[in-house]
Amino acid sequence: MKLLVVGSGGREHAIAKSLLASDGVEAVYVAPGNDGMTLDGLEIVNIGISEHSALIDFAKSNDIAWTFIGPDDALAAGIVDDFNQAGFKAFGPSKLAAELEWSKDFAKSIMAKYQIPTAAYGTFTDFEKAKAYIEKQGAPIVVKADGLALGKGVVVAETVEEAVEAAREMLLDNKFGDSGARVIIEEFLDGEEFSLFALVNGDRFYILPTAQDHKRAYDGDKGPNTGGMGAYAPVPHLPQSVVDTAVETIVKPVLEGMIKEGRPYLGVLYCGLILTADGPKVIEFNARFGDPETQIILPRLTSDFAQNITDILEGREPHMAWLDEGVTLGVVVASNGYPFAYDKGVELPAKTDGDIITYYAGAKFAENGQLLLSNGGRVYMLVTTADSVKAAQNKIYKELAKQNTNGLFYRHDIGSKAIK
Ligand code: AMP
Ligand code: GLY
Repeated sequence: MKLLVVGSGGREHAIAKSLLASDGVEAVYVAPGNDGMTLDGLEIVNIGISEHSALIDFAKSNDIAWTFIGPDDALAAGIVDDFNQAGFKAFGPSKLAAELEWSKDFAKSIMAKYQIPTAAYGTFTDFEKAKAYIEKQGAPIVVKADGLALGKGVVVAETVEEAVEAAREMLLDNKFGDSGARVIIEEFLDGEEFSLFALVNGDRFYILPTAQDHKRAYDGDKGPNTGGMGAYAPVPHLPQSVVDTAVETIVKPVLEGMIKEGRPYLGVLYCGLILTADGPKVIEFNARFGDPETQIILPRLTSDFAQNITDILEGREPHMAWLDEGVTLGVVVASNGYPFAYDKGVELPAKTDGDIITYYAGAKFAENGQLLLSNGGRVYMLVTTADSVKAAQNKIYKELAKQNTNGLFYRHDIGSKAIK
């Protein structure tokens, strides 16, 4: 069987690598992928994620059994609908089902309709009304652009002034373009964040190990929000009862709700949750795997990933199995300056072998040889599994200390919240 993965980051590297390790998979193509992936025997294909018909032609001429869609923007653009219309299978939600991610207003209305616990909110297109709401509610308060804004359209405001300024930038100054033409203003939720993933077909779903991302750029959760600087799974201090509650009060009702709305869900459902004093509540839904969470969840899968996805796609019960001991932890290495402007072309350390995995997010071969250079904001991630968070940290940070990371940076405290 030959498979295609759409996307180019560390998440797609992890998905493709796990698929290639499956029985009966002879080749995994990644479009557009990045050069670092080729070191693991993956084949990269020079087609962009928005070139739906070129991707479908590739699937046709290369006898692709099915395609795994990585990124949110491809799903929001209806890539799965286009594949299906052409008679090809793709693992990911339709455009209508993916609206759970690409419109926060839609997600909020579904949560209200099906009584799924989340922050109280209002939706506004008019600045004066938004301002009045903020002044009435008081701070802290959260202001969000409605549409996809690459994780940057959220302002957790400590003061009323800051919140009003954020609403002004989105509604009057057009800072996020169309994404910010409508804003959600919501109650600040206090608690620990975690990510809960499910592989879904309709009302059937399979829960993955819990994970915790680190979204801020610098140690101690300081600095700007990023796509994610490191993660670990499972979250050892999160009791199973919290997961059970989240499944009953969040995963089940949202999937049943989507069926009632005529938008049955297929693919990965990513619940961004916060454990409040009143139990788990939804911060956001995403319609795809998380990055960097995928890179620390998939190494824990002990069953055949390609077979599992094939079964889910075809409506059969997948036999999924996970490591039930230890912790898998990964640290992202990013370009100096990320998430703002950064340089490319920094020479990268050699790929690790043994029990530390290197997943590449932004890497490119130098023109005249095999030297791998940085080519993105997040560049690569080191991942390992050990008996405890502390032991996994020790392994990764020892390896990073040996590597030449000039021109690059990483956080030194991934997983530390689980140790205190
Ligand atoms: P989002 O893009 O919706 O995931 O938001 C980005 C980050 O903002 C989240 O990971 C949280 O840390 C924070 N955040 C979002 N909504 C809330 C909320 N209602 N209360 C507290 N923090 C929030
Ligand atoms: N880990 C955050 C995200 O994938 O959106």
